[in-house]
Amino acid sequence: MDTNILAVCGSPIRGGNMEAFLNEAIKSARRMGGVNVDMIQLAGKHIEDCRHCNWCLTRQEEGKFCAIKDDMSEIYPKILAADALLLATPTYITRLSGYLATFLDRFRCLILGKHYRGAMKGKVGGALTVAWMRNAGLETTLLSVISSMLMWSMVVVTPGEGTCPFGAAGLSSDQGTGKADPEDKLGVLKDETGLRSARTLGERIVETTRILKAGREALKQA
Ligand SMILES: Cc1cc2nc3c(=O)[nH]c(=O)nc-3n(C[C@H](O)[C@H](O)[C@H](O)COP(=O)(O)O)c2cc1C
Repeated sequence: MDTNILAVCGSPIRGGNMEAFLNEAIKSARRMGGVNVDMIQLAGKHIEDCRHCNWCLTRQEEGKFCAIKDDMSEIYPKILAADALLLATPTYITRLSGYLATFLDRFRCLILGKHYRGAMKGKVGGALTVAWMRNAGLETTLLSVISSMLMWSMVVVTPGEGTCPFGAAGLSSDQGTGKADPEDKLGVLKDETGLRSARTLGERIVETTRILKAGREALKQA
């Protein structure tokens, strides 16, 4: 039974710290075996804000998710196909990036839509962030992401003991001091504690998804 993960990078910077950090979680998930990962970069995508038009509440049909026609049309089927989501955002002003916020607002049609209502329920989710400073919003950013997962009845997974209780957290400046080597644009790859949180999250996402899928199969047989 394969595990299908959708990994979403909510940084405007391609090849930046957030992407490198998310890749650590993905590599770790893949090492578990039987894992398929689809990675989406929100940078460069045309994704509009939810307009609260309520079209999805009354007019949504199979394959027609939202009234807005943009890059979300191709992404919705990927979200439905995923067992688990890894949502990554750089820490921006102590919370998630506008890119990821806009993306998550568009999930409304998978939560309340006429056809796809409740589609996120029971999917597994984990959050990742990278910040410049040690104490300037890592945890509040992770909370801003996992609170949406909790609202949608997803099963939230964290790296757990010894890392961060809300998700995977990395620092892109040296030890989170705000100092960094100007030649090294990927400072997060030196943050061993942070990298451990990303790798552990990758493993735990797969482990939890497997347990849930096996449990659902067992219930079907019972
Ligand atoms: C608009 C904006 C707001 C930011 N706010 C914070 C912040 O509140 N706390 C912090 O530690 N770093 C903050 N940063 C720094 C980024 O989180 C940090 O540089 C991170 O490594 C960016 O990841 P990236 O390389 O994937 O873009 C901010 C950066 C930007 C552009």
